[in-house]
Amino acid sequence: MRRKIIAGNWKMNKDIHETATLIAELTERMKDFRNEVDVIICPPFTSLVLANALIKGSSIKMGAQNMSQYDDGAYTGEISARMLLTIGCEYVILGHSERRQYFKETDELINQKIKKALSVGLTPIVCIGETLEERESGITDKIITTQIKGVLKELTSSEVEKLVIAYEPVWAIGTGKNATPEQANQVHKLIRKLIGQMYSWNLAEKTVIQYGGSMNAQNASSLLSQSDIDGGLIGGASLKSEAFMAIIQAAVEVAK
Ligand code: 13P
Repeated sequence: MRRKIIAGNWKMNKDIHETATLIAELTERMKDFRNEVDVIICPPFTSLVLANALIKGSSIKMGAQNMSQYDDGAYTGEISARMLLTIGCEYVILGHSERRQYFKETDELINQKIKKALSVGLTPIVCIGETLEERESGITDKIITTQIKGVLKELTSSEVEKLVIAYEPVWAIGTGKNATPEQANQVHKLIRKLIGQMYSWNLAEKTVIQYGGSMNAQNASSLLSQSDIDGGLIGGASLKSEAFMAIIQAAVEVAK
């Protein structure tokens, strides 16, 4: 049985004051939470140190939204895997479509970042997903296959076992138009099939695959009830404690 993971990607939102408020609200709402699902928040870099202090004693875990493929050195503006690890990050989102679109990240670069994250013990949350144009041209499966093969290149079975995959159809991100549970589940099944072919069915069955793209309190339950959807990567709805908590509760109900 795969454990459900609910992760909030705050993107470029929340200064340290707003971070403190949101985490205070969340920890209060999660007082009676019994760890039935994994809950992760991914604040911006500037809030990570504070967030790590504020989530102490709660069951919330922390991740970053990006990191460098390099260890250290003259890379102005970059943040290394080890820096993230030493301030309490357990996860790092890699290959988000906004990084691919605005910062020209490629499968090859994302593959390098995944290897680096794994080498220090961070768990990468690896994002893949097709654009609207690609879906409408009927090449979703091809795009997903290319991305999976590209980001997992040269990774061993024991490395892939440590990853979380997030299927985020680009057309569903921030648009209020989520993929239907059936549409999403179909792609999740494809991802599992690819991992089965590339590695083993045993590994495919174990791999946690989150859905992301306009997940909210209303649609969370139907998405999370699908056979191959193991959690959510949530943008907008993770910025308000009430909405994020409602999604966590939906995951807890489904996990029962
Ligand atoms: P929204 O939930 O705002 O659509 O964002 C999804 C996302 O990109 C999470 O990484």
